[in-house]
Amino acid sequence: MKKTNSRVEEFIRVDHAGERGAVKIYEGQLLALNTLVKDENLKKTIEEMKVHEIEHCQFFESEIKKRNIKPTKFLPLWDLLGVGLGFGSTLLGKKAAMLCTASVEEVIDKHYQDQIDQLGTNEKDLKSKIIKFREDELHHKDIAYEEGASKKGLYSIMDKIIKTGSKIAINISEKI
Ligand SMILES: [Fe+2]
Ligand SMILES: [Fe+2]
Repeated sequence: MKKTNSRVEEFIRVDHAGERGAVKIYEGQLLALNTLVKDENLKKTIEEMKVHEIEHCQFFESEIKKRNIKPTKFLPLWDLLGVGLGFGSTLLGKKAAMLCTASVEEVIDKHYQDQIDQLGTNEKDLKSKIIKFREDELHHKDIAYEEGASKKGLYSIMDKIIKTGSKIAINISEKI
């Protein structure tokens, strides 16, 4: 087994937390869509994006095991907040639900780009996965805007809250 340097270890820990968080957000959104909110089109869109997030999450899950990295201790809290964010945003309506995706993906776009810039040839496979996942996330962001994500008025506040929250979660999950 090759030794993973500590920076790369942080990358994998935080990416695992983030991709799992993405799955949880969509689970929360689908919970709303299976109970209180009726929107079959939105449900289909979210189910499709969730398939990608599961694939992303499984990759980092296996990297964590393969390289013997400790996942973040905060997973139970991120799970809770992810489901809550997904459920809550979807109760507010389609614009808010899609803004949730757009806001998160905008943070992740930059986050993955930073990692791609730092990864060298000794982590070629990891780097190519992150490049591919970043492209998926950008695609999700485009879908969110096509489906009506809005940053007008009060939505701009929601955008800032989600972005700040995501950045805090990223900083914590890299380290602990
Ligand atoms: Fe993802
Ligand atoms: Fe995504």
